[in-house]
Amino acid sequence: MASSIFLDTLNGVKTDRPPVWFMRQAGRVLPTYLELRKQHSFNELMRSPKLAAQVTLLPVYDLGVDAAILFSDILVIPVALGMHLEFTDSGPHFDKALKDIKNPIGYLIPDAAKLEYIYKAIDDVQRTKPANTPLIGFCGAPFTTLCYMVQGMSSNHTFPDAVALLYKDKVLANKLLNLITELSIEYAVNQVKHGISAFQIFETHAGLIPSELYFEMIMPYVRRISAAVMKAGCPVIFLPKGLGTGISHITPEDTNFLSIDWQTPIEEARQMVHPEIGIQGNLDPRLLLADKATILQTLEKYVAFGSKNQNWIFNLGHGFIAGIPFENAKMVVDWVKQTNWRRN
Ligand code: CP3
Repeated sequence: MASSIFLDTLNGVKTDRPPVWFMRQAGRVLPTYLELRKQHSFNELMRSPKLAAQVTLLPVYDLGVDAAILFSDILVIPVALGMHLEFTDSGPHFDKALKDIKNPIGYLIPDAAKLEYIYKAIDDVQRTKPANTPLIGFCGAPFTTLCYMVQGMSSNHTFPDAVALLYKDKVLANKLLNLITELSIEYAVNQVKHGISAFQIFETHAGLIPSELYFEMIMPYVRRISAAVMKAGCPVIFLPKGLGTGISHITPEDTNFLSIDWQTPIEEARQMVHPEIGIQGNLDPRLLLADKATILQTLEKYVAFGSKNQNWIFNLGHGFIAGIPFENAKMVVDWVKQTNWRRN
C-alpha cells in the first residue's frame, strides 16, 4: 500500500501534521450510522461482512479521519470461546456469566471458525476502501475481555467478581487469561494476514486494579499478543486506560505506540513513556459536548506539543460517547488538518 500520514507516523517518517482518528468513530456520533441503526441491530451490522465494511468506512468519508477501524467488537472472542452474547440497550450481556458456572474451563470451547466472518469484513474493506486508507484491526486485552466474561455484563464498569478472581483464584484466572490470549493471538495474526495496517489492543479496564498487579498478572499475556502481531509485521498500539504511572514501565517490546487516557496531561505522559514508544491521544471526548470556542481553546494547547513531537497520533483519551454533536467531531478533524503545526 502507498504511504499515508498515519502509517508514516507509525513508521517514524516525518509528516507535516499528526494523523487523526477516533476511538468509536464508526458508531455513536455519525448521522449516517444512526440512520443505518434504524434498519439493523448492532449485531446485524457487525455480523454482515458487507454492512460491517460499509460502516467501517463511514467515518473516512463523513469525518475525513486518516484511518479506519474495523467495525466489530472485543466481545467476539468470548463468543468464539462458546459464550452467548446479546447487545441490549444497556450494553452487552452474556446469558451465563462465568462467575455462575462451576467449571468455567470445561464450559469454554474455543472455535476459531466463529471468527471467519470478521476476516470477510476485512477483505470487503480492502476491496472497497479509498486508496491509502489504513485499516486498524483490534482485540480486547485479556483482562478487559475476562471482566465481561466473568461478570456477564458491565455492572457499572466495576466488574467486582472479575477483580476478586485475580486475588482469590490465581490458577483459574491464569487458565482463563491463557485461553483468551491463545485465541486472541490467532485472531490478531489472521487480521494481519488479511491486510490490516495497525493493530490496537484495548485494555479499557486496566484502571480497576493496582498497576503492580497489572504488570504481574496481565502484562505477560498482553506481551504475547503484541509480540505475535509485531512478528507478523504489523505495528501495535496499546490502550491501557487508567494504568496511571504504570505507563512509565511499558517497554518497546510491549508496544510500538501507547494510547494515553485523559487523566495524564499529554506532555507529562510523553515524559513518562519510554522515548522509543510513540503516543496516541488524549482529548477528553466529553469536551466535545462543550461550545465551539471552548473546544478550540483546548485544542490550541496541543499545537506546541505536536510541533515538537512527531511520534504522536491525535485521538481521544477514550471512545466517543453518544450525544456528541457530529459537527464538533468534524470540527476537530478539520482543525487538525488546517492547523500550522510548525514542524520542519
Ligand atoms: O468505531 C467503532 O465503533 C469501532 C468498532 C468498535 C466497537 N466496539 C463497536 C461497538 C470497537 C473498537 C469496540 C471495542 C469495545 N467494545 C471495547 C473496547 C474499547 C472501548 O470503547 O472501551 C469494549 C469495552 C467493548 C464492549 C462493548 N460493546 C460495550 C461496553 C458496548 C456498549 C456500550 C457502548 O460503548 O456503546 C458495546 C456496544 C458497541 N460496540 C457499540 C458499537 C458501535 C454500540 C452499539 C450500538 O450501535 O448500539
